[in-house]
Amino acid sequence: MTRQILVTSALPYANGAIHLGHLVEYIQTDIWARFHRARGHECLYVCADDTHGTPIMIRARNEGISPEELVARMHGEHVADFRDFMIGFDNYHTTHSEENRYFAELIYQNLLQGGHIAVETVHQAYCNRDAMFLPDRFIRGACPKCGAVDQYGDSCEHCSATYSPLELREPFCALCGEPPVSRASEHLFFQLSHYETFLREWTRSGALQVEMANKLDEWFASGLKNWDISRDGPYFGFAIPGQTDKYFYVWLDAPIGYMASTLHYCQRTGRSFDTFWHPDSTAEVYHFIGKDILYFHTLFWPAMLKGGGFRTPTAVFAHGFLTVNGQKMSKSRGTFINARTYLDHLDPEYLRYYYACKLSNRVDDLDLNLDDFVQRVNADMVGKVVNLASRTAGFVHKFFAGRLAERYPEDGGLFATFVQAGEEIAHYYEGREYAKAMRTIMALADQANRYIEEQAPWNLAKQGEMAALHAVCSVALNLFRILMTYLAPVLPGMAEKTRSLLDLPGLQWASCQTPLCGTTIQPFSHLMARIDPKRIEALLAAARPQESTQVAAQDPPAANSPEERVALPSSSAPVAATPTIAIDQFAQIDLRVARIVQAEQVTGADKLLKLTLDVGVLGTRTVFAGIRAAYQPQALLGRLTVVVANLAPRKMKFGLSEGMVLAASHTDSTDKSALFLLSPDAGAEPGMRIQ
Ligand code: MSP
Ligand code: ZN
Repeated sequence: MTRQILVTSALPYANGAIHLGHLVEYIQTDIWARFHRARGHECLYVCADDTHGTPIMIRARNEGISPEELVARMHGEHVADFRDFMIGFDNYHTTHSEENRYFAELIYQNLLQGGHIAVETVHQAYCNRDAMFLPDRFIRGACPKCGAVDQYGDSCEHCSATYSPLELREPFCALCGEPPVSRASEHLFFQLSHYETFLREWTRSGALQVEMANKLDEWFASGLKNWDISRDGPYFGFAIPGQTDKYFYVWLDAPIGYMASTLHYCQRTGRSFDTFWHPDSTAEVYHFIGKDILYFHTLFWPAMLKGGGFRTPTAVFAHGFLTVNGQKMSKSRGTFINARTYLDHLDPEYLRYYYACKLSNRVDDLDLNLDDFVQRVNADMVGKVVNLASRTAGFVHKFFAGRLAERYPEDGGLFATFVQAGEEIAHYYEGREYAKAMRTIMALADQANRYIEEQAPWNLAKQGEMAALHAVCSVALNLFRILMTYLAPVLPGMAEKTRSLLDLPGLQWASCQTPLCGTTIQPFSHLMARIDPKRIEALLAAARPQESTQVAAQDPPAANSPEERVALPSSSAPVAATPTIAIDQFAQIDLRVARIVQAEQVTGADKLLKLTLDVGVLGTRTVFAGIRAAYQPQALLGRLTVVVANLAPRKMKFGLSEGMVLAASHTDSTDKSALFLLSPDAGAEPGMRIQ
């Protein structure tokens, strides 16, 4: 029976580039979709950019363009990255679309009419200068637990504590540096608790992996909290009907983007939207997501669909996070690798194969170990698979006019074994056990290679044993065809080259059960090259920030998240110690002697002084320093201090801050005047490097 399947990947935020972490998910989903199509099912794969929210609005403002322009540009970049990684979306839409507005309003109206929306007053941090409420990530200050300065409003990167922004010490607006005030506002809340019975049932209906269902039990146990779905303007999003200056929170319309993208596809192709989303739909709907967005997809989303009058997902599949060489991706180590940077150096199919070798149906994190990556791809892909064709196709052309043997030769049962393994491999793909599928396929490849080694076609050619040579080459190419059919979901590019080499209409799972006999093959062309380890070096060098742009080397916040996010607590929370760094990491900080040539107060920012620094060879710099409580501007004129010269310039309301001066303070003191600017001993000159 032909199944009708709709699969989705989480919608990437439009405020950042696609990186190798994201690609775990898009490659995982794409393999699954391609597998089902190869099995003869109908499988629709849709996605979109997640465009709304404060970060997009702020970024657009900083770039001096409209959010619409920014979103359109990012859409273009994302589409190109996905295309070049061979992610075969049937439709890639955007949440900033009329289809999405339509469904967001419809679902909201249905929830409202059903009595599932309540109004509550919320006290939130507000910046008077920016005239806006500040999401957690836009408030910074000292960690209430360990005292580390300049931490995010929701978590400390130093000691990993999580807290509410109200607990931050000496909080300031990340945009302008002003301390925020607390301000009340009415918000709309989705009454998630109304759906508890439904959700408990859905959770146990087979829709979730066991580890996820257990996680949900913990959430049920601690009580389902109502969900704040509105944000006050200014906000980039959809206005809430019947409200003034209120917008749907980005996470309300984000998953609705799955439906909007489906509708957009259906309108383009004349398909029926109801096939997939009608409450009585018999189609299957699957969401692939990362473990960090479980809460949204397993509680809010099914409840919204239920209350909104649509069907709920058949299952939600969560995967773990990517590490590179055993550690979190890091800009300074060069392991925070964007899709485009990778593509500039390496073949996308290497990564597709390597991820497939690592993926299971569990929520565990997976590691991209770069040495193992090179070794695995070269040994398996080039050494075991490409080999089968490259060692035999030439003979078929040279001696047999490109024609395979008329009857399938005796092969000691290999062909039958290969066909038979197909069901086991299909079972692994279906269950997202890609690592097992790859191992099974490579075991077959080993058998095929042993056969070729034993038969040694190169000797047969030398000895003029033409019939035997023809037989061996025909067997090898038939086995190669089966392997490539099994690998096609992972390696669509190589599968296409195989299809054209063997002159077939396609590589369908069912059709490879009959051997190819008496057909003509095309000239052999290059299928896949070995990875030269030098390419990896070049990739890491390109991903690592350059000397001159090291200012951009700070790693992004823990989660690639613009706003609140509910994460699975990590089982291995880092301990509260300052990690040691290597000398070369220290050397990346460009510390210089600087002379303060000008110092003035900043109107509207009572903590800051605007300093003009003479940094010798590096010229003059403007720096905003939070030292006003401790120093009178005049007292600073002419004195020497120490500046971090390669810190990312930070755009503030009153200008660009191009570095940071160093001062000592107690980490746990609230005395703001206990600040001591560092200075070198007499004789030091502006521009000298401190090392
Ligand atoms: N915009 C939201 C999803 C909305 S879905 C209605 C979002 N975007 S994201 O760009 O941060 O992440 C997109 C997907 O990529 C998520 O499923 C996320 O878990 C996944 N990944 C992002 N970084 C990742 C790794 N480092 N490793 C593996 N997956 C990662 O969340
Ligand atoms: Zn502000």
